[in-house]
Amino acid sequence: MEYRTGLGWDSHRIAVGRPLILGGVVIAADFGLEGHSDADVLAHAITDAILGAAALGDIGMHFPDTDARWKGADSMKLLAHAVALARGAGFHIVNVDSTVILERPKLKDYRASIRQRLAECLGLELDRVSVKFKTAEKVGPVGEGRSAEAQAVVTLRRD
Ligand code: C5P
Ligand code: MG
Repeated sequence: MEYRTGLGWDSHRIAVGRPLILGGVVIAADFGLEGHSDADVLAHAITDAILGAAALGDIGMHFPDTDARWKGADSMKLLAHAVALARGAGFHIVNVDSTVILERPKLKDYRASIRQRLAECLGLELDRVSVKFKTAEKVGPVGEGRSAEAQAVVTLRRD
């Protein structure tokens, strides 16, 4: 049995008039995130963590933001595609841990729905999917409300 670990990180600029979507869940906020796709920073970090663990490149390699096909794309579809690529290489996901760093709004009331949505997309039981939230203590671009970041770690198993 072989175990692999992958790391993912992403950042998107905050923009008025855009939706705020995290892990496929629409968050009530007076701003959203800028991006070629739907700018789901959490889905992007997890996608990169899966691709990283399987050594299958990164999100930009599979879904270039110069490609009109991915304009406004539902990032959960990109995540599902990364899962399929990893499965194709013989990997199963053991668990996913993640952190969204965003100054506001408070996200903890969305934890259950985000975990549920991710678990469905990843084909995992709920207790294998963790989502955490942090502020940046008002420091730096995230703390000043100019951007959002997400980090993810994924463990894959190949029997
Ligand atoms: O960043 P800080 O340590 O102050 O966050 C404290 C708690 O607030 C976090 O553990 C998390 O549960 C919650 N939080 C949140 N939404 C955010 C940031 C933090 O619900 N945007
Ligand atoms: Mg992104």
